Amino acid sequence: MISSLTYESVGEPVGGAIPLELRKAQMTDIAPLLTLINGYAGKGIMLPRTEFEISENIRDFSVAYAGEKLAGCGALHFYTPILGEVRSLAVDESLKAHGVGRRIVEMLVAEAQAYELDAVFAFTYVAEFFRRMGFEEVERGELPLKAWKDCLRCPKFQCCDEIAMVRVLRPQHWEQARPGLGDNPLPPFEGDGHILLPIIGKL
Ligand SMILES: CC(C)(COP(=O)(O)OP(=O)(O)OC[C@H]1O[C@@H](n2cnc3c(N)ncnc32)[C@H](O)[C@@H]1OP(=O)(O)O)[C@@H](O)C(=O)NCCC(=O)NCCS
Repeated sequence: MISSLTYESVGEPVGGAIPLELRKAQMTDIAPLLTLINGYAGKGIMLPRTEFEISENIRDFSVAYAGEKLAGCGALHFYTPILGEVRSLAVDESLKAHGVGRRIVEMLVAEAQAYELDAVFAFTYVAEFFRRMGFEEVERGELPLKAWKDCLRCPKFQCCDEIAMVRVLRPQHWEQARPGLGDNPLPPFEGDGHILLPIIGKL
């Protein structure tokens, strides 16, 4: 099952034009991953990542290459036995709108399905993109507290405007498990989106 995650897709055309190689990331991808992700982080669009963090989580990452160029990346990070996050999703500026992002999300969802997750979620500013990928908007408080650990070091911690979105993979299981999500879920944000540091500080 998990072995099905050795990726094929080499040379498959994207948008009718760009041959794309999709695969799990390797250590040699760390430098281009840092450049891509921190390029967007510099514009406040994504969370910055350090070399240490990417190295530590390299097995979460999948990459898409157009020839020698890193066209895009994304990561699947596990939080509970049934729930994972799609994060660090980025497509090179010059290759946006060619279906690269879609291909990466599909690859991460296939990985989540191989691990029999019930659902995946994302925190995002590009809700329409994720809607097109089968995600639906949810109250942030529906996600388990663990999912918020990155928020602690986010520059927008006190004024978060990201949208929480979920794609359910196993509807029956998910519906049964939902009440169990209450392993300290946060209350939904109110008003200006401020949250209480002491609550998060329990992480
Ligand atoms: C968001 C992002 C990953 C999308 O990647 P992409 O390769 O350009 O997207 P695709 O070409 O695969 O688009 C797939 C679909 O989503 C739509 N879409 C893509 N970006 C969109 C956007 N910003 N707003 C609305 N729709 C969008 C496309 O029109 C396409 O629609 P279709 O169903 O009609 O084909 C890319 O724009 C990006 O890297 N943005 C900066 C980093 C970022 O915001 N990452 C998300 C962090 S959660």
